[in-house]
Amino acid sequence: MSAPKKLFIKTYGCQMNVYDSERMAEALGGEGYVETKSPDDADMILLNTCHIREKAAEKVYSELGRFKGLKAEKPDLKIGVAGCVAQAEGQEIMRRQPLVDLVVGPQSYHRLPEMEAKAREGEKVLDTDFPEEDKFEKLKNRPKAKRGPTAFLTVQEGCDKFCAFCVVPYTRGAEVSRPADRILREAQDLVERGVREITLLGQNVNAYHGAGPNGDMTLAQLIWELDKVDGLERIRFTTSHPNDMQDDLIEAHGTCAKLMPYLHLPVQAGSDKILKRMNRAHTAESYLRLIERIRAARPDILISGDFIVGFPEETEADFQATLDLVEGVKYGTAYSFKYSTRPGTPAAERPQVDPKEADDRLQRLQALLTKQQREVQDSMVGRDVTVLFEKAGRFPGQMVGKSDYLHAVHVADCDRAIGDLARVRILSSGANSLAGALID
Ligand code: SAH
Ligand code: SF4
Ligand code: F3S
Repeated sequence: MSAPKKLFIKTYGCQMNVYDSERMAEALGGEGYVETKSPDDADMILLNTCHIREKAAEKVYSELGRFKGLKAEKPDLKIGVAGCVAQAEGQEIMRRQPLVDLVVGPQSYHRLPEMEAKAREGEKVLDTDFPEEDKFEKLKNRPKAKRGPTAFLTVQEGCDKFCAFCVVPYTRGAEVSRPADRILREAQDLVERGVREITLLGQNVNAYHGAGPNGDMTLAQLIWELDKVDGLERIRFTTSHPNDMQDDLIEAHGTCAKLMPYLHLPVQAGSDKILKRMNRAHTAESYLRLIERIRAARPDILISGDFIVGFPEETEADFQATLDLVEGVKYGTAYSFKYSTRPGTPAAERPQVDPKEADDRLQRLQALLTKQQREVQDSMVGRDVTVLFEKAGRFPGQMVGKSDYLHAVHVADCDRAIGDLARVRILSSGANSLAGALID
């Protein structure tokens, strides 16, 4: 048998890209590739890219430039670009960077083995179709290897919302849900390989409407099916849209013990004028009422969000409304970004905010969000939480895991193994994590 070829994958962007990179590694595993942690000894380099902001997209070209020397030393090295930049820029990538042998969009990963074979023969290959077939069904080749205690599982992909700033509907395509039986099979397989916690992924995960035995299922119905999987201890999902937060999902947060008390529910802005121009189809008030209903079902739920500052024509008063909304919600964690103009999206045509002003707003928003995050984290001190241990800590005998609320928790003198769940009393709150002790 010939020596295995080596594959180096670098992943940018969201959790779905992390999931996709695992699937690509499995697909190429069937072609004799094993993964390597360094590009230096790779036979194939794949960049799984993100197009969400300009900086993310530009990073790809600087990274590609760095492989020039490697390719000169090793003419057989193949370089591929996958993900959302591949989808958005296609052929342009090969024009800008002739080192690239292969460009594959997110809906074509099941064609990767054929593409790899063509690239090996010296062809330049590109596939950015939105094919009809289910790429996940074709992306088999799953080795039964043991896995860590947490895993992602894509249940829905694409987006029909067309927020005025966002490239995702163009790079991931229309909203598609996977049938429930395939998801359940995949979950079962993950559990057999050691997984205890699954995070269901979708660009609009709560719009899930995959086929079930009795017609389409909601995300809540899918969660209740996963609840029955023995050995699966925790269920999470991300990312949700406020307009798809259905009653049965809110209710499940109060009644499904395996569903964790954490919800990522981006709002983007607090001014109704800006929300309208963003094409968000909800108001600040309707979002706040929704949060109230969710907290009525599950009072201790940790709310997380995404924000954009400096959206075209955002005034100081609009920005103030965002700060007011944040005050009203009290976020446990949040991601905030300066608006980045994306060619081809409607907002790109609108009058832009002065970048210095946008920087200043971002700093003020982040200061408030950091303060809230710290307060919520500090409020855990003295409480008992369940921790799923994910790895050994830096000190002997120390283990690190995540609480139900997704806070990182360090436990000293811990005799538990990776994958164990244990009750832990929180003793102190540090910069980005909690410290606790096992409760016997
Ligand atoms: N599907 C998810 C995530 C989309 S991308 C959702 O609907 O929330 C993740 C975050 O990136 C978005 O929530 C938004 O806050 C941010 N984002 C998207 N486009 C952006 C842009 N053009 N400039 C700055 N931030 C952006
Ligand atoms: Fe982008 Fe809006 Fe769709 Fe989220 S809901 S992926 S922000 S278009
Ligand atoms: Fe980026 Fe594509 Fe995800 S643009 S955020 S990698 S869906």
